[in-house]
Amino acid sequence: MYTHLQLRDSTRPPVSLATLHKMKAEGEKIASLTCYDASFAALVDEADADIVLVGDSLGMVIQGHDTTVPVTMDQMVYHCQSVARGLHRPLLMADLPFASYPTRELALANSVRLMQEGGAEVVKLESGPSQIEVVEFLAGHDIAVCAHLGLKPQSVHKTGGFRVQGREADAAERMLAAARDLESAGADLILLECIPSELGQRITEALRVPVIGIGAGPHTDGQILVLYDVLGITTGRKPRFVLDCMAGAGDNLGAMKRYVQAVKTGAYPAPEHCFS
Ligand code: KIV
Repeated sequence: MYTHLQLRDSTRPPVSLATLHKMKAEGEKIASLTCYDASFAALVDEADADIVLVGDSLGMVIQGHDTTVPVTMDQMVYHCQSVARGLHRPLLMADLPFASYPTRELALANSVRLMQEGGAEVVKLESGPSQIEVVEFLAGHDIAVCAHLGLKPQSVHKTGGFRVQGREADAAERMLAAARDLESAGADLILLECIPSELGQRITEALRVPVIGIGAGPHTDGQILVLYDVLGITTGRKPRFVLDCMAGAGDNLGAMKRYVQAVKTGAYPAPEHCFS
């Protein structure tokens, strides 16, 4: 039961933001996966993922909701604590869930919960021009922040569904400007979801901070996928960027290693996983 503790390896230093900056500078791709519990966390660690995200996607893949909106702060803290117990090397990032950052003071209080109770090292929030003040405030309190742009699942009831974002020229320019402004406000990482590959490339090249993509093309500094999609567990309609690594992998660890390898070599994402 406690084998993940015995697997801890002092020859594999933990990933930090500095590690990720070095990887961006040297063109080494950053491999990231979501995770929601300690047992899978130990395997994701062994597979050598660089970032693990406790995503509010847990509302869909663990709890069976249609969206991420019902996920609460208490649930995020619980899953983050579980994942933290299984990890040694990857950087641990956690989502601020829906409506947990409407003011900078609430954003700070909830980020502190994710870090102090949950063990998170970076907090992620779905962002745009309205979150610049919040990002600046968190950064000013020494909190490492990832700003999530593009498709923002917490906003689906407002935006009308899970759709590719930034296809029109003016929307693309607004997203690029927002990414620049969030970086200037102190964001340490940017995550881009479901945007055309060309826009993913423009944003990645315009920023100093590492950019992680999901359905954002091959040019971002790294990739992230929902673990259950990589393990082929997800049922129903799958987005085109999903890579099921289970077929022929033998076991869960084999599938995770195949994903990390595909990201590192640039084999993933292939053109069929990308949007134009
Ligand atoms: O919640 C999540 O899993 C995410 C990923 C889709 C990046 O935000």
